[in-house]
Amino acid sequence: MIVCSCNAITDRDIHAAIDWMRASDPETIITPGKVYRALGKAADCGGCMSLFLSTMRQNANLEVPAELRGLKDYRLQRG
Ligand code: FES
Repeated sequence: MIVCSCNAITDRDIHAAIDWMRASDPETIITPGKVYRALGKAADCGGCMSLFLSTMRQNANLEVPAELRGLKDYRLQRG
């Protein structure tokens, strides 16, 4: 299914990019911008962003690494 019509990016492209990034770096935080760059493309109109994000969220490899979770709460507690 085409997710980004400006760049002809499919849901399979997005999942492949996320899987590749997670395999390359288990601690990386994966953002839409990184997915675009991994695919050698850049966002244009941004109209796909909602569908792009929901497609990304379907991938189990999108998770933020455990050691990086809760850093904001930790920072706020330390003042
Ligand atoms: S539809 Fe994705 S940037 Fe335009």
